[in-house]
Amino acid sequence: MTAKLLAGRRVLAIGSALPDLAQGPLEGAIVTTGGLDRLIGVGAADADLLIIEADSWGGAALAAGVQALALCAAPPPVLLVGANLPTAVVRTLLRLERSDVLEAPFSNENLAAAVAHLMTARAAPAAAAPAPSGDIARCWAVTGAVGGSGATTIAIEIANQLCVRTGKDKSVCLIDLNLADGSAAAYLGASPAMRLPDLARAADTLDHSMLQAFATPLTKQFDLFSAARDPQAFESIPPEAILRLLEVACETYQWVIVDMPRHRRAWSVQALSGCDEVLVISELTVPALLAARSLSDEIERAIGSGRKPRIVLNRVAGRMFGPAPSLAEAERALQRKAEGGVSSDWEAAAASVNLGGPIATHRPKSKIVKDVQQLVERLAGEAAQRDGQTTRAA
Ligand SMILES: Nc1ncnc2c1ncn2[C@@H]1O[C@H](COP(=O)(O)OP(=O)(O)OP(=O)(O)O)[C@@H](O)[C@H]1O
Ligand SMILES: [Mg+2]
Repeated sequence: MTAKLLAGRRVLAIGSALPDLAQGPLEGAIVTTGGLDRLIGVGAADADLLIIEADSWGGAALAAGVQALALCAAPPPVLLVGANLPTAVVRTLLRLERSDVLEAPFSNENLAAAVAHLMTARAAPAAAAPAPSGDIARCWAVTGAVGGSGATTIAIEIANQLCVRTGKDKSVCLIDLNLADGSAAAYLGASPAMRLPDLARAADTLDHSMLQAFATPLTKQFDLFSAARDPQAFESIPPEAILRLLEVACETYQWVIVDMPRHRRAWSVQALSGCDEVLVISELTVPALLAARSLSDEIERAIGSGRKPRIVLNRVAGRMFGPAPSLAEAERALQRKAEGGVSSDWEAAAASVNLGGPIATHRPKSKIVKDVQQLVERLAGEAAQRDGQTTRAA
């Protein structure tokens, strides 16, 4: 596909290892090579595509080259590739209208896909990164009362339902803050794109463009923010960087769903205080219900706004077998009403994680989908009502 796209197109390769690509993923293109100085004043007359190999250059020289490119009136589309991609360079580059970054190691297919995307972006500039929405998003946090209660599963389904509800491009994101071992990316069959060393350095600098470098687009509407497993992650990321990530995401998307770690971190209370809703997911066992009650009380006390987390019962069986508590017994143990129940459907849940994607995609008729849809409708409806009341009061 790229051979057709690139037939006769002029690719200017800035780096020493790139000419070999002319026989591979850049087949069909007229590839010339040059130094970083070629980026000064470069325009459509010089090349149809720029590929910059970051590892061929020192950090300062690369930064200066990309800065020069940013000053050009109408630079060609540009792809930055390499193993060492300095954050500042990536930020400058991603501000350009047609730009992308590919982290090494990458396959010929990865490179071909990135090139194809850039070359077609010319005809479809509207597919560029979303502009900040101007409004502050609704942010809902989802956390489990006990391990494995279904927080990630429900967070994914909620985000997916919100995409259906809004129908707008780039309107919903899911942020997996289980930084050490989050499973949202694996459940969605996606590759994590949030590089933790970059996030750690970004407390003061993270902005809308950089946020896009951390996003894994899942559909036209739905972006995922997640990092590769890292046992040191919680120790290595300053709280300010996490809070900044949430803040910028809320300025960019209409809905932000956060998969929150169960154990409290230095930033947990502040993050939860900024959320419009906190959903505590419990299963229907006595220990889980007791844990849900105390976690919910703890969160309520810590955020101190009088807002109560909502408890959602997951894996509710249509007909109870064995000594599982009934809904009434569950609510007695919780000492409050549950916000809703999500049916148990192991086949649908397992099929979706194995295929990679929301249950609504792979098993749209599952009761899980209907239950989450009702939950979302109710919560989003209440939020809209509150907004209406605030507007009238003002
Ligand atoms: N309603 C449901 N019916 C059947 N299986 C479910 C349901 N919800 C979740 N599961 C399954 O339960 C398991 C645990 O779910 P999940 O990973 O979402 O829980 P979690 O609370 O995020 O776990 P962790 O504590 O590891 O973060 C997964 O195998 C998932 O597919
Ligand atoms: Mg989880």
